[in-house]
Amino acid sequence: MSRDLGHFREDYTVSSLRRVDLAEDPVLQFQRWWDDWTAVDRYDAAACVLATATPDGRPSARYVLCRSFGERGFDIYTNLASRKGRELSANPHGAIVFGWLEANRQVRIEGVVDELEPDVVDDYWRSRPRGSRIGAWASDQSRILSDRDELDRRAAAMAEEFGADPALDADHPVPRPNDWGGYRLVPESYEFWQGRPDRLHDRFLYVRGADGSWSIDRLAP
Ligand SMILES: Cc1cc2nc3c(=O)[nH]c(=O)nc-3n(C[C@H](O)[C@H](O)[C@H](O)COP(=O)(O)O)c2cc1C
Repeated sequence: MSRDLGHFREDYTVSSLRRVDLAEDPVLQFQRWWDDWTAVDRYDAAACVLATATPDGRPSARYVLCRSFGERGFDIYTNLASRKGRELSANPHGAIVFGWLEANRQVRIEGVVDELEPDVVDDYWRSRPRGSRIGAWASDQSRILSDRDELDRRAAAMAEEFGADPALDADHPVPRPNDWGGYRLVPESYEFWQGRPDRLHDRFLYVRGADGSWSIDRLAP
């Protein structure tokens, strides 16, 4: 069965993207669009789809939250033994896409993914609410569960072991599980897409050269 979903919003009145207005550095261009969108919705700005693939090229994709970005790359946190973690350890190529749909904008980033350094992960781990740190202990992400009860029982056991009261943080912080960590996608290319009327959208592709400089080309929509 297929269902006609009708016409998605096609009110492309927001803006255009012109070559002369682009930053030569894609991180700076990303920062501009990020600032535009975070003025509207900070949570949605950070949500992006991370695509990974098995070594024989079977892709999988899921939303994650991008916790920081900059010249070095885009950082996300997760369980290293999850499906995405297993795929990345066998094939480090990844892609992320941000969809800031109300602004008719999409940013695609492709590159190689590295594990984040333990001290960077520790800093982020400590910033998480205690309940979320306990929850990480309770869940072997991507493993099959027999039922919801199994998860709830494990969460209750972990809360009992570590203590759920946030006041315990000062003297009894929750340790970081060995398989909890993060990844940095180091971009090799970026594409900025701005929706325009009549499907004549603006697309600009940045590709990093061997010397670290970025070429910029306009792509047909
Ligand atoms: C908006 C949104 C943000 C999410 N952020 C994260 C995240 O930062 N880290 C994470 O491990 N999972 C996050 N998830 C859950 C993932 O989409 C996914 O279910 C989980 O990481 C397991 O994926 P995997 O089995 O492919 O490894 C998020 C889901 C949504 C909808």
